[in-house]
Amino acid sequence: MRHPRSRTTRRRVAGALTAGLLCTAGLAAPAVAAAPTPPAAPADGLALTPPMGFNNWNSTHCRAEFDEAMVKGIADLFVEKGLKDAGYRYVNLDDCWALPNRDADGKLVPDPARFPGGIKAVADYVHAKGLKLGIYTSAGTKTCNSAGFPGALGHEYSDARQFADWGVDYLKYDNCNNQGVDARQRYRTMRDALAATGRPIVYSICEWGENKPWEWASDVGQLWRTTGDISDSWSSMLSILKQNLPLAPYAGPGHWNDPDMLEVGNGGMTDTEYRSHFSLWSVMAAPLLIGTDLRKASRATFDILDNKEVIAVDQDPLGKQGRVVSAAGGRWVVAKEMKDGSRAVALFNESGTAQRIATSASAVGLPDADAYTLRDLWQHRGYNTAGTVAATVPAHGTVLLRVAADPDWAAQPPAVELASDGDPLLEAATPTALTSTVTDLGRTPARRVSVSLTGPAGWTVRATSATSATALSTGKALRTGWRVTAPAGTPAGSYGLTLRTSYRSPSGTRVTGALPLTAAVVVPPPAGTSSLGGLPWLSATSGWGPVERDTSNGESDAGDGHPLTIGGTVYAHGLGVHAPSDISFYTGRACEKVTADVGVDDEKGTKGSVAFEIWADGTKAAATDVLTNAMPARPVTADVTGAQVVRLVVTDGGDGIDSDHADWADARLSC
Ligand code: GLA
Repeated sequence: MRHPRSRTTRRRVAGALTAGLLCTAGLAAPAVAAAPTPPAAPADGLALTPPMGFNNWNSTHCRAEFDEAMVKGIADLFVEKGLKDAGYRYVNLDDCWALPNRDADGKLVPDPARFPGGIKAVADYVHAKGLKLGIYTSAGTKTCNSAGFPGALGHEYSDARQFADWGVDYLKYDNCNNQGVDARQRYRTMRDALAATGRPIVYSICEWGENKPWEWASDVGQLWRTTGDISDSWSSMLSILKQNLPLAPYAGPGHWNDPDMLEVGNGGMTDTEYRSHFSLWSVMAAPLLIGTDLRKASRATFDILDNKEVIAVDQDPLGKQGRVVSAAGGRWVVAKEMKDGSRAVALFNESGTAQRIATSASAVGLPDADAYTLRDLWQHRGYNTAGTVAATVPAHGTVLLRVAADPDWAAQPPAVELASDGDPLLEAATPTALTSTVTDLGRTPARRVSVSLTGPAGWTVRATSATSATALSTGKALRTGWRVTAPAGTPAGSYGLTLRTSYRSPSGTRVTGALPLTAAVVVPPPAGTSSLGGLPWLSATSGWGPVERDTSNGESDAGDGHPLTIGGTVYAHGLGVHAPSDISFYTGRACEKVTADVGVDDEKGTKGSVAFEIWADGTKAAATDVLTNAMPARPVTADVTGAQVVRLVVTDGGDGIDSDHADWADARLSC
């Protein structure tokens, strides 16, 4: 789901940071609720910080590539690539390592095709590198895989003994085929069986949060899954994040919430999204189990997994899980108290467009001070700030900061905010105005400040006022007007512009920063009345599948819809969407009216309920009440006079998006 950002939203960025770190004083933000004292660390000393390591499941599932060579290869890379030094220790085998049948003595038998030398040989190999070995079975009669590998229910003591004899250091204990036996009983029996071996074995409870293990398992295992399985997609990661965040009070040394293993590097998300995944798991003090085959991993994947400043957030010995400070409009602030008194602060942008996300030192729990140091844990750079912590965060991105009431703040250059008054919309060959600001937000002055704006080759970009200032004191800004012209004939589409600043700290250190802007080259709307199904849009989002022209929404591929049909009436033209949806059209202040017949498409039978809205820039120009499949088409008319952009929005009607096939039938624009 994407959240559109108003065209008039100001974009800001700190001088030195592409992603947009900045600090301003005095913005109000809600306080973090006081954390209950987490249960004391257990005496066994296991998992006093969240376990770190590898597990094959997310990359291989049961496929044949999961074998001894893979496991040894990962152990080798842990050492060679410095991941062991970064804290990664456990090399864990997931499901499918065993044969389907126990031997005549009831013992588990490693699959000889995958592990020809057995598990003990793998454990020895891993131990020789100073690493640890993990294994998997289920608290049921069989594991989760349909091939039916043996589970440990009724065999707890002998299986635990066998694991200990092999030299296993970690057990993931799953929940399939549990025969309805009470979860607490099943998981406690294995806890006792592991204890009886006398070998320290980290115990990972994997019952998917079904029995609220956070309420009863802190003296059973060292970690418990809080959700169903993660998959390698943005929506899966996001859904798990939202389930795990509220469980912060239950985490602490030796007993961690486990939002499942990392997908970083598996290809289903962008690197920006993977950096968010890794940042958010770290700020939640989640176990960091690499789930990609490191033998094939890219440089970018290693750079994410090996970021020691981020890992230090996860592994902080205080063992607090970060708490949500604020969450609105897809702008999340999550703050984690650190043992040294600083706060790790994740500014996470769930939405599909860049947004400014702001909080303050006091809101994240820091004491009052003249100024703070602020370290960007992805950029690896430090600044000073007077109080508020904020950044312009790219779509799906996270800026991860460490903020401290540090008496040495003056050793850092001031944070400087770079902003524009929006992403420009321009018609080719027509000069368009833009304003930039560079504001000193640190306690110390920014000197020799300059700003520049560059566009694609062939574009004309001219400053209409000053582009430099001798010095800016706290809170003072350099404001610059610009005229931007795309050459005649530039095709409609998105083009990158870059706003840059350079300044000096009081001690003379040069700091530079950049803010990427996206200029949209648009075509003027046609005069007269046009079908909106036939006009180009600026942006279009739909809850399932793409927005369809002149058909309903078929939920997955483009072109999979049916004729637009509401209450038995079939329409030749219009737009078919699935809630939540948002389509924007450039109207260039030249249009007057939008009309449509709206409703839930008949293809969903009796199901689906949605509400329709038409927006003229920031004004809601028309809206329906909740419409269901039982209702005929509802005519809507909106006065959009003077609007630069018109948006057609569909919401879920308040009951979730299930079956919400919404039709903008016969939608027309008059200009
Ligand atoms: C369950 C677990 C997964 C994985 C598979 C293996 O689905 O939740 O993490 O271990 O079983 O079959």
